[in-house]
Order: sequence, then structure tokens, then C-alpha cells
Amino acid sequence: MGDQQVAECSSRLQEQERRIRTLSAEIDSLKNPLGLEPSPHLADLKEENARLQYRLNILKRSLQENPAESSTAMLNINQRLQQIFGEAIGAACPRVPDPPRAVTPNQQAKFGDYQCNSAMALAQTLKASGLKVSPREIAQQILENLPENELIEKTEIAGPGFINIHLKKNFVSKLLSNLLLNGVQPPPLPARKKVVVDFSSPNIAKEMHVGHLRSTIIGDSMCRLFEFLGYEVLRLNHVGDWGTQFGMLIAHLQDKFPNYLSASPPIGDLQAFYKESKKRFDEDEDFKKRAYRCVVLLQSKQPEILQAWNLICDVSRTEFQKVYDCLQIRLIERGESFYQEMMKTVVQELKDKGVLELDEGRQIMFVPGQSIPLTVVKSDGGFTYDTSDLAAIHHRLFQERADIIIYVTDSGQSTHFQLFFAAARMLGWYDPLVTRIEHAGFGVVLGEDKKKFKTRSGETVRLMDLLDEGLKRSMDKLKDKERDKVLSPEELTRAQRSVAFGCIKYADLSHNRINDYVFSFDKMLDDRGNTAAYLLYALTRIRSICRLASLDAGAVLAAAATTPILLDHEKEWKLGKCIVRFPEILQKVLEELLLHTLCDYLYELATTFTEFYDSCYCVEKDRQTGEVVKVNMWRMLLCEATAAIMAKGFDILGITPVHRM
Ligand code: ARG
Repeated sequence: MGDQQVAECSSRLQEQERRIRTLSAEIDSLKNPLGLEPSPHLADLKEENARLQYRLNILKRSLQENPAESSTAMLNINQRLQQIFGEAIGAACPRVPDPPRAVTPNQQAKFGDYQCNSAMALAQTLKASGLKVSPREIAQQILENLPENELIEKTEIAGPGFINIHLKKNFVSKLLSNLLLNGVQPPPLPARKKVVVDFSSPNIAKEMHVGHLRSTIIGDSMCRLFEFLGYEVLRLNHVGDWGTQFGMLIAHLQDKFPNYLSASPPIGDLQAFYKESKKRFDEDEDFKKRAYRCVVLLQSKQPEILQAWNLICDVSRTEFQKVYDCLQIRLIERGESFYQEMMKTVVQELKDKGVLELDEGRQIMFVPGQSIPLTVVKSDGGFTYDTSDLAAIHHRLFQERADIIIYVTDSGQSTHFQLFFAAARMLGWYDPLVTRIEHAGFGVVLGEDKKKFKTRSGETVRLMDLLDEGLKRSMDKLKDKERDKVLSPEELTRAQRSVAFGCIKYADLSHNRINDYVFSFDKMLDDRGNTAAYLLYALTRIRSICRLASLDAGAVLAAAATTPILLDHEKEWKLGKCIVRFPEILQKVLEELLLHTLCDYLYELATTFTEFYDSCYCVEKDRQTGEVVKVNMWRMLLCEATAAIMAKGFDILGITPVHRM
């Protein structure tokens, strides 16, 4: 909880009170000649007001109890400006019911740091209600009503009515000192919220492919962002472990390894095993029938069949885990089979509600706004992907009590998700205004030939082979640079892994996930441009500057408490402002679930740092002896703050930086 929320809440309260006064006055002036009930609108407002008052009191109290909390968190400058301008706009145009109050960061610094463009929209609104005022005049009014504040240095009206906003240097400088004193702290979360992220989710007995790799990387990073922001995160691996393919796998297992109940069968190459059983399934009618029987037995949990199923799942699990270990992914397996009993309950609920229709033996459900129906029960009585997802969303809403549920899969599945989301809404399971449920889809992975990512011989690429190749290539790169001559063997291995896996993750995350993306080791390992290799080098370089100045953590804290961070040089000022934008970047990523925004920001931060470092001496050395003769402490603090934000950014992206590389 912080000042910011108190201010937000009280400004909304003030606004509401204003509206109540206006409405009451209107009613009074009518003197209620017909003896009507007071406006229902008024009652709503009064009720909301009571709620706001209550919330405000709680916020104020918690602030008194823990005043430190309000200042340790990093401030979201954009939000703060929005609030200040909101107040000014409310006061300047009291009669516009819900006025636009957008403040956005400025791309070009010469027009100020932020911009408020509401005057144009306000002029339109007023014009529509018969009042002609020029946007510039409105902008003027807004500025005259700007409340006193801690962060605006100056404002100016430009063009037709844009308001350019310039930040105060000592305000930014204080934010930077705070950042160093408290560490990178997330903005306060109003209430504990729970997020379920359904990601990775490969299919048992099938190879985990590059699509699953994307889901794994993107999903993990989203979890990390939510975790940093203080959400309770449930990371779920919704593996496909209950489909019809198990019938044929189990039947084949029974034939090939009849003693599978007593000795573990050697099915390490599950892929080959899968192919063999599929061949029999397609060619042999008897086998096919037995396979279907096995599915029924599995779903009724017949112990011997269940054991066979477990054996197969375990082989897959071990394979998946290798990938997770490399990429340091934690997640809880809760596959389709977990929901078997719940599927029955859900189907019963649908029957009771009378929403199922019979269609050639299948039980289907149509949902408003969706052209195709969900298949809930197949003609043989089996459940489908739709059924398991209905049961899963029900469980996440009612048992897990999630406030946010995110599904990370390729965009090809988006119809499926829209379908069962709409079904869940229709059934009254959730209200989209209260619970955020989203399919975070992504494009396909392409090879450098822009065709679907495949091996030379046209096979799907095994993920472990891909990760191994990454390791090999990253070691080649390090050796090219003769790093093997400088680093100890352990340092070298650490750098190799950091670069290889960091680059694979970053290449994925730094592209807008909606688009298809071209997988290229050459590009991702290039240490120029927007790559993990470049950023990892940038961070180690900053860290080495700090080592040169012999700054340890204690010295940084002491300096941050006593040395004001000067931002007089143009490049210091530019870097300082870039650093303090971190919270608003995270907010944007949170809203859009697009991680490339964070990557773009980190790249901008690294290049802005380079500009600063090229023109501002941090550590001055004697030309002859090479000895350090002067440390410009406030600049070292800027280095430290940059490093802190970069490290936190890497952390959210799931990238492990190294001290030396
Ligand atoms: N197993 C699916 C696949 O490989 C992804 C599952 C995604 N999650 C879900 N709840 N449907 O495509």
C-alpha cells in the first residue's frame, strides 16, 4: 500500500462527492414535485462512496502502521502523472462525466518526458454537448488546475493542445537513491491475488517440440513477472496424458513386454515405440479393437492398465525433466488425467442445466457467439480435449480460486480456448470483469529458410538436441574470443550455459509472441544488437567498472545514503530517466502479457548506458601507471542502478547472468 493508492482513492472520492453534490442539487431544485423516489443513480453513487471511504480509511491506517512501505517500492511515474492530470482535468472540466486522462511517455525527449493529449479529446466532447472551446484553451485550463506535486519541473503547450511534461531532476535523483537503498522493489499489490499459468504442457509419449519450448519459455517468464509483483503463482503443466493414444501404446506394451508388471520395460526410445504401435493400430483391425478397449479400461482405472500407463508417463516425464533442468523451469504436473473425476461432475452439471445436445451420438454444446460447438462426450462415451479443459477451468476457478488464469499455447489453438472460455461464461462460472482469463497465443517457430522448423532430413527437431547444439555453439563463440584462456574451467562452463540458454530464451521473448519467429543460432548468439549475448556482456562490463572502483555492496549503500546522484550531464539525465521507467514497463507487460516490451526496454537501457559511459568518466585512471586516481561516486551509483535493473530484468526473463564471461 502506498501514498499513491491513498491519493488515487481520495481523488476518486472527491470526484464522487462532487457528482453527488451536483445530483443532489439537481434533485433539490426539482423539489421532487411528483414525490418520486430519489434517483437510483444517486443511491449507487452513495453506496460506492461509502465503499471508497472505507477503503481510504484502511489505506490510511496501514500507511500509519507501516510508513516505510510507502517509500521502498519503486514509483510508477506514468501512473502518478495520470493521477495528477486526472485531478487537473476533473477540476478543469467538471461537467465532462468520465474525461480522458491519458499520459504517455514521449518517444522524443526534446518534446518533454511525458505528454498529456487529453485536451483534444475533451474539446471534441465539449463540442458535442454544444460548447465550443479550443483544445489549447482547455490545455491551459488543465495546467492552471494542476495540483502541487513532487515530480513536474515544467510543462508547455505545444501544437494544437499537446501538453509536454518535463520531470524534475532532483525527483528522479531521489528515486534512484531509493532504488539503491531498498533494492528493486515491486509496486505494492492492493490485495493478494492468485494466478494460474498453464504452460509448457507437452503430450506424453510424443516428442516435446519447439512449440512446447516457446510455451515453456514464455510461460516461465510470465510466472516470474507475476511472482516479482507479489502474486501467488501456480505454475501448471497441463500434460496430455489421457488421450486415446494410450490405448494403442498400452496394447503394444502388453504384447512386446508381457512381464511389464514385474520388470520395467526398456522403452527409453518412446518415440520409436509410439511409431511401432501406431503402425499396428493403422494396419491391424484386431489390435485397434484391443487398443480401444484399453482406453476404456484406463479411464475406469483398472490397476494393471494403470500401471502400464504410469510406466509410459514416467519415461516421458524423465525426458521432459531434462529440458526443464537445462532451462531451470519449475512447474507442477497436473495433466488431463488429473481431471478425470471432475469431468464426470462437469458433464452432469451440463446435463442438469440442459445445455447438451445430441449430434450423431455425440453430446455437444453450443455457446453464444461461437460458430462451432464443444464436443463434451464422444459417441463411445469418452471425453475430449474440450471436456478436460472445462473441468480444468472449473477446478481453477472454484478450487484454486484463481483471480487470473493464463494459457500459453500456439495461436493455432485459439478457437479451442475462445470456445471453452465462452462456455464457462455462459455457465456463469466467471465474470470477465472480475476474473481475467486469457489465452496468450504465439506464432510458429520457423527455420532460417522461413519454413516450419525441421531437421535437414525433415524430422521434428528434438529439444535436447537443440539445447545441446546451443551449448556447442556458445562454447565455440567463447573460444573464438579466446575466453578459454582467461576464464577458469568453471567460469567457462558457467558462461557457456548462461549464453546458450539465455540466448535461446531471449530470442524467443524479444519477438512479439503473436508473430511467427525465425530460429537462428547465428542471430541469437551475435553479441551486437538486441540479443542476450549483447546484454549479458553489457552487464558484466558494468559490473567490472564497479570492481575497478572497488565498490562492494556495503560501499554502495553507504554512498547511496550520502551522495546525491547528480544528473547535470545530458547523458546522466537520459540514463537516470531510463532507469526509473522500469515500473511502468512492467505494468505494461502485465497488461498486455507481451514480454518483448521488457526486452526492448533492457536493450534501450544498455545502449543508453553505453552513451553515458562513453561521455562521462566514472573512474579516472592515471595514464602512465593505470592506477585509479579518482572515482566519481554519483556516476558509480548510476552504474549500480543500471546493473540492478538489468539484473532484475534478466531475472524476470529467466536468464542467468554471470560475473565473468
Ligand atoms: N497438450 C497441449 C498441446 O500439446 C497443450 C495444452 C494446453 N493447455 C490446456 N489447458 N489446453 O498442444
